[in-house]
Amino acid sequence: MARRVYSEPGDRIVSTAPVAVNRYRGWTRLNHWITAASLILLALSGFALFHPSLYWLTGLFGGGQTTRWIHPFIGIVLVASFVLLFLQLVKYNIMRREDLVWARRFRDVVSGHEDRLPELGKYNLGQKFIFWGMFWLILVLIVTGIMVWEQYFGGLVTIPTRRVAILVHSISAVLILLVFIIHVFAAIWTRGTLSAMTTGNVSGGWAWRHHRKWLRELAGRQKVDPAE
Ligand code: HEM
Repeated sequence: MARRVYSEPGDRIVSTAPVAVNRYRGWTRLNHWITAASLILLALSGFALFHPSLYWLTGLFGGGQTTRWIHPFIGIVLVASFVLLFLQLVKYNIMRREDLVWARRFRDVVSGHEDRLPELGKYNLGQKFIFWGMFWLILVLIVTGIMVWEQYFGGLVTIPTRRVAILVHSISAVLILLVFIIHVFAAIWTRGTLSAMTTGNVSGGWAWRHHRKWLRELAGRQKVDPAE
């Protein structure tokens, strides 16, 4: 019996370097990590001021007085840094029709059936939710923070208003920490994502799997050299 043949004589497996796709420039990564560091420092100094049982955290900032003094200034750094990040990324975080389909098929997202999901641009709805969640919460935090920043804005609002402001400030701080935890968890859970913010690159496979429209656009813009 004749042997079955599936391949041509010229077919061969060629191993080339995997395709890497650049997702963030160095400047954007630096901007992101300054934002992240300031939020972590704000959380630590904020918790230190929040409840006496957490007062020991002031030790990280050189005592109670310096913690109280430095907390709002770190807030200013966060706002300035987030504004720069926001301006760079806002146009890729606008809601699109495919986001609704993605949300409806969220079960497929969690179970890893991405083949059943629509092709997406640079961000999915989850990432957009993080982006806008952080935007609104940072806005509320800075506005209420200024209202209770007695050193420079002491007479700005009445004492009853200041009481409401501090309550809203604390609730928003808890909410932004939840958003932050979801963000870090999603970045770790979606394998291959962290390198986007460390080296700046993701693999071609990651881009194809999670953000195919974005990859198609990049591929259309340039000649892809897999061996590069
Ligand atoms: C240490 C904790 C953090 C880690 C490990 C982390 C990790 C990452 C990673 C891997 C990405 C790239 C995701 C992608 O391109 O698909 C990213 C994007 C981003 N991160 Fe973080 N991040 C952290 C903290 C923060 C904080 C505190 C903020 C804001 C207050 C933040 C805001 C953003 C924004 C706005 C993006 C762009 C995504 C978008 O625009 O939708 N990150 N982060």
